[in-house]
Amino acid sequence: MAHPMIAPSILSADFARLADEAQAVAGADWLHVDVMDAHFVPNLTLGLPVVESLLKATEIPLDCHLMIENPGRWAPPYAEAGAHNVTFHAEATDDPVSVARDIRAAGAKAGLSVKPGTPIEPYLEILKEFDTLLVMSVEPGFGGQSFIADVLDKARAVRRLVDSGELRLLVEIDGGINADTIEAAADAGVDCFVAGSAVYGAADPAEAVRKLRAQAGK
Ligand code: DX5
Ligand code: ZN
Repeated sequence: MAHPMIAPSILSADFARLADEAQAVAGADWLHVDVMDAHFVPNLTLGLPVVESLLKATEIPLDCHLMIENPGRWAPPYAEAGAHNVTFHAEATDDPVSVARDIRAAGAKAGLSVKPGTPIEPYLEILKEFDTLLVMSVEPGFGGQSFIADVLDKARAVRRLVDSGELRLLVEIDGGINADTIEAAADAGVDCFVAGSAVYGAADPAEAVRKLRAQAGK
């Protein structure tokens, strides 16, 4: 792959030092921001005010992953605030196309995310409305879980449609990405790799980003 992208997830960072933690991964392609509402997933993280502060603290484009109910109501403000990507879950709405259009109209890229058990076939028709597909390779909610390799079939299926020119979007993967799993994901055609514990658990997070990118580009 020409330029594999790495998106460190600040879920594994120190939330009291987010500006420094963003600085620690200078050189990352995107900074992945996990927004959880304790309803769509059984965990609570951060919301719009923290994202607004992060936007002032870093030049790295923010990749906001909304694990929340009612994205139609809550997603567009992240786009208006200046997030680069606003990704929401297919399972959280009956009208993903409207949400995607609202995100794009508010000036951000729109992303659709699917949990490990959610098939991609029902969504292939609407992927033209999106800029990224975020394939979850763990159950959303927590960092540090083990990679579920079965989901790579979804990445492969969408990669084929991108390579044949039927779709134009980035394939992103999230959950359990580390030195042991990133090559399999890269082989499946993933463009962008989210990594939380593998980056922020490393002694040198910036070096961890460089190593993962090199491995994905092999
Ligand atoms: C999980 C989050 C992930 C998480 C990944 O719900 O969406 O972004 O931070 O963490 P690791 O890389 O540790 O699996
Ligand atoms: Zn995430």
